[in-house]
Amino acid sequence: MFKIIDGKAHSAAIRAEIKQRVATFKADRGIDVGLAVVLVGNNPASQIYVRNKIKACEETGIKSFAYYLPEEATQNQVEELIEELVENKAIHGILVQLPLPAHLDAQKILKLIPKAKDVDGFCEENMGSLCMKEDCLVACTPNGVMKMLEREGVETKGKNAVVIGRSNIVGKPMAMLLLNADATVTICHSRTQNLKEICSNADILVAAIGKAKFVTADMVKQGAVVIDVGMDRDENGKLCGDVDFENVKDKCSYITPVPGGVGPMTITMLMFNTITAAERS
Ligand code: GUN
Repeated sequence: MFKIIDGKAHSAAIRAEIKQRVATFKADRGIDVGLAVVLVGNNPASQIYVRNKIKACEETGIKSFAYYLPEEATQNQVEELIEELVENKAIHGILVQLPLPAHLDAQKILKLIPKAKDVDGFCEENMGSLCMKEDCLVACTPNGVMKMLEREGVETKGKNAVVIGRSNIVGKPMAMLLLNADATVTICHSRTQNLKEICSNADILVAAIGKAKFVTADMVKQGAVVIDVGMDRDENGKLCGDVDFENVKDKCSYITPVPGGVGPMTITMLMFNTITAAERS
C-alpha cells in the first residue's frame, strides 16, 4: 500500500509554527516581519504564485510589500527598486518572481539581493553555503521536499536518491540537500542515457523536469518514495505533475499528489525563510 504525502496538512502544521515565531518577533522587536514580492509583467502563472505568496503572508502575520512593474519595465527601473528594498529596514526578505520578461537580465537583478535577504535561496552565497553544509537560506521547493520527507519519517541515509532535473531553483539544491542528508545522489537530465535504468534503482525519486506524466511505472522501483515537483497540464488542460500518478502509485511506499503535494510546501518554506531572515537581522 502506498501513502499519499499530504502537502497541505504538513504546510498547515508548519505555518502554525511560523505564525508563532512571527508573533514573538513582533513582540520582541516592536516591528513587523516584512517580505517584498516583486512581479514584473503579466505571466499568468506568476500572478497566481504571487497572489498565493501574499495570502500566505497574511495567514502567518508577515507584512507583504507587493511591487507590480509593467512588462516593459527597464533593467534600470527593476534594479533601482531592488536597491531601495535592500536598504529598507522594514523588509527582511526580497523575492523577485521568475521568470522575468526576456529583455531583462535576471541574473544581474538577482545578484543585487544580499545573502541575508535572499529568501529564495538563489544567490551564490546561499547556494555555496548549502554546498558547504552551512546554515543558510535554502531554495523553497527543495527545502519543502526535505521537510516533508523528515516529517513522514522517510530515511535518506544510505538510500539511492535520483533527482530528474538540474535547474538552479530545484534540481541542483535538491540534490545537495539529499547529499547533505547522507543519500547517494544521482542527477539526471535531458541528456542522460539509460534514464529508466537509473530511475528504477531509486529508493527516493524526485521528478523536477516540467513534462506532464513523464515518470511512468516502468521507471519506478517497488516501494520507492516518489516526489513530484511538476506543475504541468495534461492533454485535457488539467493540472498534473511530472509523474503518471495513477499508474505509478501502486509501486510506491510514499507519493506526493499534484496538486496538494510539493506546491503548498514551497510557499510555506518561503514564509519559513522570511521569519528566519528576520530573526537573524
Ligand atoms: N518561479 C518558479 N518558482 C519560483 C520560486 O521558487 N521563486 C521565484 N522567485 N520564482 C519562481
